[in-house]
Amino acid sequence: MTASPGAGVAPLLSVEGIHAGYGPSQVLHGMSLRVGPGEFVTLLGRNGMGKSTTVKCILGLLPARAGVIRFDGRDITRSASHQIARAGIGLVPEGRQIFPNLSVEENLIATARPPRRAQAQSRPWTLERIHALFPRLQERRGNPGTRLSGGEQQMLAIGRALMTNPRLLILDEATEGLAPLVRRDIWQALRQLKDSGLAILCIDKNLGSMLPLADRHYIVEKGRVAWEGSSQDYLAVQDELRHRLSI
Ligand SMILES: Nc1ncnc2c1ncn2[C@@H]1O[C@H](COP(=O)(O)OP(=O)(O)OP(=O)(O)O)[C@@H](O)[C@H]1O
Ligand SMILES: [Mg+2]
Repeated sequence: MTASPGAGVAPLLSVEGIHAGYGPSQVLHGMSLRVGPGEFVTLLGRNGMGKSTTVKCILGLLPARAGVIRFDGRDITRSASHQIARAGIGLVPEGRQIFPNLSVEENLIATARPPRRAQAQSRPWTLERIHALFPRLQERRGNPGTRLSGGEQQMLAIGRALMTNPRLLILDEATEGLAPLVRRDIWQALRQLKDSGLAILCIDKNLGSMLPLADRHYIVEKGRVAWEGSSQDYLAVQDELRHRLSI
């Protein structure tokens, strides 16, 4: 198995031994993962295993009962979600959560923020850059959020997260429910983002599309990591994993 992330490189995000749940039901039982600078990491696992719950804990939307979450070396375990967003984590949430009464352009600028000082080297995100990544959003710029197709909504959700100039982009179900051609556009955009050096934590059922893109994978089983490794590692043991974890 591949050590995570590159030996000697401090992780951008580290989740260490998180326990969390909803009321009396505990969902995460010592969940841990790391994302290094510029890495593309996936969270895999069957329905209800705790992937979205992990994302909610990272974003401060659900409190961790135990464990530590660090971003860029800072303990963010008990930070408020707006502070976590400001620190540089951009979320493309499950269900997209587009503002329905705002236009595409208004959605993009509603939560936009300038880059942080630590990002002086990277090119800031602008409407023009979003339009270059997703030309469809330029065509639809005046349309209200409610009048978009699922694929356009997902492009908008990604664009809106990028306009916060994140250092880490988290996608909870990157292509869920989308037609094959739109999925292809989303994966191509994520490839461009990875090539630009953005760190990405991606949840999706479509492992085949992520294998060539991803540096590392975590398979979540009942609220903790049951397997981790590179795409190459995965291919070497996929039959066993399919049998053992239904992946
Ligand atoms: N708001 C909630 N209140 C109570 N239980 C919840 C809530 N959200 C999720 N759960 C439960 O927590 C468990 C983990 O859910 P979670 O959404 O993290 O799974 P997941 O791995 O993201 O699954 P999927 O692939 O279906 O999105 C499930 O048993 C789910 O029913
Ligand atoms: Mg989920």
